[in-house]
Amino acid sequence: MEVIIEGKVKTVYQGDDSQQVIIEYHDKVTAGNGEKEDHPLGKGSLCCSISALIFEKLAKELIPTHYINMVGANKMICKKVDIVPLEVICRNRAAGSIVRETTLNEGQPLPQPIVEFFLKDDSKHDPLLTPDRVRLMGYDPKPFIEMTLRINDILRSLFYILGIDLVDFKVEYGYDAHGDLYLADEISPDSMRLWKIGGEERFDKDLFRKDEGDIVPAYRQILDKLQPLAVT
Ligand code: TYD
Repeated sequence: MEVIIEGKVKTVYQGDDSQQVIIEYHDKVTAGNGEKEDHPLGKGSLCCSISALIFEKLAKELIPTHYINMVGANKMICKKVDIVPLEVICRNRAAGSIVRETTLNEGQPLPQPIVEFFLKDDSKHDPLLTPDRVRLMGYDPKPFIEMTLRINDILRSLFYILGIDLVDFKVEYGYDAHGDLYLADEISPDSMRLWKIGGEERFDKDLFRKDEGDIVPAYRQILDKLQPLAVT
């Protein structure tokens, strides 16, 4: 298969149909811009299955997503889109960079969800962007903010039912050949913070970032919890 993009933990191949790609999720996890790396067995298929379930749920709620279907355990067929070079982050509580870079405390609830933009460019260390900078790059921030807040509402309710607090998450968007906007990339515990409600347990990549435990059993718990809710 022709490789279109070799990412840090995923490879994107050209699909049989020119308007489709195949995304392969590898048994690999990285942090700190690729400085830290591990190869946990089964991690690729877990992230692929979790992403697929989440995309299906969002599609049911009328969010346009690039996801079409899974092929095998760790690959999905997706609509081919031009990825917007923005990492769009939504936060419900303070954690990670917002704690490191502001006066907010870890876990502090935000009065309302916020959406932030980061440049998707590892060579520039993914800096935080202002809405003006996003506009100067040629993108109107509004549709990204609106769609991300809708996704947040859906996913927050979904995880709440499972006893999990959606602290924050990152999404990426892309445009198809007609200029229509689609949610793209992946949504998995690699790109979210998931905290047990009323407990200390964490189910996301922070376990790896902070050396606080194995991600595979944690991600498996997320998949097991999501599976019964699979598009009903
Ligand atoms: P953030 O707190 O900004 O960064 P960090 O993980 O370095 O502390 O991240 C907010 C959320 O977005 C978190 O759930 C991780 C996710 N995220 C990604 O998936 N990829 C990224 O490149 C970044 C910066 C964040």
